[in-house]
Amino acid sequence: MGFAFFMGLVFALLQHFLYAFLHHRREEDEDKKFRWVLYGRALAYLSKVAFGGCVVLVFRQRIWSTFRSRALTVLSIDQIFGATEDPSLFANWETLSNAPVIVTLALVIWLIPMATIIFSPGALTFGTFLDQESIRLNVPTLDFSVESRKDWRNPVPFTNGSTKRSLMYYNTTDIQGTQPGWFDYYDQPSAELRRIALLLAYSNMNHPNIKQNARQDACGGSYNCTYEQSFVGPGYQCEKIASGANDTAKLEELGAPFNTSILVPQGRNVYYAEVSLGAYARPQAADFRRGPGGIPNGEPPKDLGVFKSEPVLWIGYSVNSTEWLPQDDPLAANWTHRYDQHIIRCVHMETKYTVKWNFVEPFFHSMTKREYLKPVVDTNFTRGADGMMDYNADPEPAENFISPRDDVELYKKTAAYHAIGDMFGDFLRGHVDLEPPKPGPHYAQVYSDITKTRLVQKNSEPKANLTEEIESFYSDMVLSLFSAPEMLAVSTAQATVDRSRLQSSFVYVPERLWQCYAPVVFVTLLILLFGAFTIWQDGTTFSVGFSRILVTTRNTTLDDISRGACLGNDPFPMELMHTKLKFGVLADGSDPEYMHNDGFNGGGGYQGVGHCAFGVASEVGPITKGIPYAGLKRRKNRTQTG
Ligand SMILES: *[C@@H]1O[C@H](CO)[C@@H](O)[C@H](O)[C@H]1NC(C)=O
Ligand SMILES: *[C@@H]1O[C@H](CO)[C@@H](O)[C@H](O)[C@H]1NC(C)=O
Ligand SMILES: *[C@@H]1O[C@H](CO)[C@@H](O)[C@H](O)[C@H]1NC(C)=O
Ligand SMILES: *[C@@H]1O[C@H](CO)[C@@H](O)[C@H](O)[C@H]1NC(C)=O
Ligand SMILES: *[C@@H]1O[C@H](CO)[C@@H](O)[C@H](O)[C@H]1NC(C)=O
Ligand SMILES: *[C@@H]1O[C@H](CO)[C@@H](O)[C@H](O)[C@H]1NC(C)=O
Ligand SMILES: *[C@@H]1O[C@H](CO)[C@@H](O)[C@H](O)[C@H]1NC(C)=O
Ligand SMILES: *[C@@H]1O[C@H](CO)[C@@H](O)[C@H](O)[C@H]1NC(C)=O
Ligand SMILES: *[C@@H]1O[C@H](CO)[C@@H](O)[C@H](O)[C@H]1NC(C)=O
Repeated sequence: MGFAFFMGLVFALLQHFLYAFLHHRREEDEDKKFRWVLYGRALAYLSKVAFGGCVVLVFRQRIWSTFRSRALTVLSIDQIFGATEDPSLFANWETLSNAPVIVTLALVIWLIPMATIIFSPGALTFGTFLDQESIRLNVPTLDFSVESRKDWRNPVPFTNGSTKRSLMYYNTTDIQGTQPGWFDYYDQPSAELRRIALLLAYSNMNHPNIKQNARQDACGGSYNCTYEQSFVGPGYQCEKIASGANDTAKLEELGAPFNTSILVPQGRNVYYAEVSLGAYARPQAADFRRGPGGIPNGEPPKDLGVFKSEPVLWIGYSVNSTEWLPQDDPLAANWTHRYDQHIIRCVHMETKYTVKWNFVEPFFHSMTKREYLKPVVDTNFTRGADGMMDYNADPEPAENFISPRDDVELYKKTAAYHAIGDMFGDFLRGHVDLEPPKPGPHYAQVYSDITKTRLVQKNSEPKANLTEEIESFYSDMVLSLFSAPEMLAVSTAQATVDRSRLQSSFVYVPERLWQCYAPVVFVTLLILLFGAFTIWQDGTTFSVGFSRILVTTRNTTLDDISRGACLGNDPFPMELMHTKLKFGVLADGSDPEYMHNDGFNGGGGYQGVGHCAFGVASEVGPITKGIPYAGLKRRKNRTQTG
């Protein structure tokens, strides 16, 4: 009994561990999947056999005490013996009322398979779950310092025999790079950078361009993921200098090249940009040697390739306020609505980017935080004798000039920044004119590439929040470098990636398993204790094998009653079925074998000890514990002595 119970527990636990092992396990092979499920069911079955076996043993033990204490009809006795296969005993009032314990045990035997075999495998299902993890991965990042160390003479290999691409092209003073005092100097943005910048600008999208499988690359597989990374790159910091016609103080202080008078409604421009004041000149020298490389003729000029200043973007624009002009306003002669004028100034800064990428199939989202560190070239133009900004003279201070001869690494990094800013400036350069609605017709004349970008609205007028838009457009242009892994500036860095994916797999719900097993274990344990108590009470163990029937029915009364039914045929005679029998000590003791043999063992003393058998209630007496009824012990003694 105890062993059966223990094994039941073991099988239940094995089932639990098997399911726990399968939990969230991905299994593509249908065949294997099927086999795992079968193993679980087999364990459930074994556990049923064990728990059921335990209860059956107790049941068998218990029925004999019932037979002893009650006279039951042969029909009921039949049903009780067959209770494990035949549920008709639950419909018999006699068994229900006279042997409730037996019926309860039988009921438990019938219910155990339900809990174990039928319901417990339900704890393992197949479904999708969100597989989440947070790991360190190599993600793409931007590192402009790689450009600092790059010499175009030594290509950096990339996959498939191609080479990494630089952001800019160089001219040089010596193609071999051997002459004393040679240096390379910036020429123009590279073709790859132009392509990236044009793609972004023309895409008109509100986000940076990324490459096709950027999500898989960054997430390390087909995941959804988010991560944050930081790097240093170029950025434009914009500031609103003037709003409205009379806001001139800052314009004068900073030496703006134009004022609001050129903007509508006073002027004609709805957009006006001055982006190349003090820009790096191309060509840098008056005359070059024939052939490639931009080698200047004779001694290179002292300021060849020197970044003296980084152009400040001066941008003026007007925005339709959508408010009607009052009738008496002088502007109402030509305009219907009020236009607000703004002038902004953007400085090219070295910027610390903190980008939060959020790749959620099939989209992605990037949140960029910019922290401006220092100007790319920290010089300012000075005022001339007339008090106006002199953009033709050299800016100051001269020690902040970035020369290709001194700090080559700083120069090349600055050149990389400048190349991107140069590309950006190309889109902003120019102006957009607006014909007033009165007398009409009203239309815009475009002399700028800005209308090819997302910086303007549908009607070619700049967006109202142009300040923020310019900053974010430029940072998206920088981030779009990620779309071209062949770029030198694109490298990798470790980042903590939170990634998730929907996995179809086994799903194990332990509660469901234990909801099945807990009652079974509890009830079986109670029954086990009850069985142990019954054994102690009975003083011996009982069983229900054929041999036990054989020895407990050797009563001549039974022979008399059952005359004519010796074949065991079905149906059994009805009057016999309704005879009540009880198990006990036969009172008249007419059996010679069991009656007078006590003298043989010598040490006896139980005079008249009877033989136990089924009989009608009137002829059997109670069995008393401790008395050695005809049993094995005496038999053994007899064979020895006899
Ligand atoms: C490199 O070559 C392989 C196969 O030859 C190709 O699948 C892969 O796309 C190529 N990679 C690049 C970056 O061209
Ligand atoms: C701008 O200044 C002029 C002259 O000082 C004045 O007539 C006009 O009302 C001012 N405009 C605004 C918008 O303040
Ligand atoms: C704007 O600039 C023009 C010359 O470019 C000048 O005549 C005019 O006075 C300036 N307007 C203001 C408000 O400073
Ligand atoms: C570089 O050299 C080419 C001639 O090879 C010349 O056309 C070009 O202007 C030079 N670039 C600069 C920035 O001087
Ligand atoms: C300004 O906006 C209003 C309202 O949207 C519109 O009716 C009007 O035509 C616009 N003015 C111009 C000059 O586009
Ligand atoms: C403004 O409107 C008047 C007539 O309403 C017209 O004569 C004048 O040319 C217009 N001004 C401009 C700049 O179109
Ligand atoms: C250039 O001008 C800006 C704005 O006035 C100022 O903040 C900055 O310090 C100046 N830089 C130098 C090197 O003087
Ligand atoms: C500018 O304004 C538009 C509409 O109000 C908004 O959708 C967009 O996000 C803004 N751009 C920036 C960079 O804040
Ligand atoms: C990513 O998230 C989206 C939206 O929640 C979902 O539709 C998609 O299946 C997820 N992809 C993966 C690989 O988990």
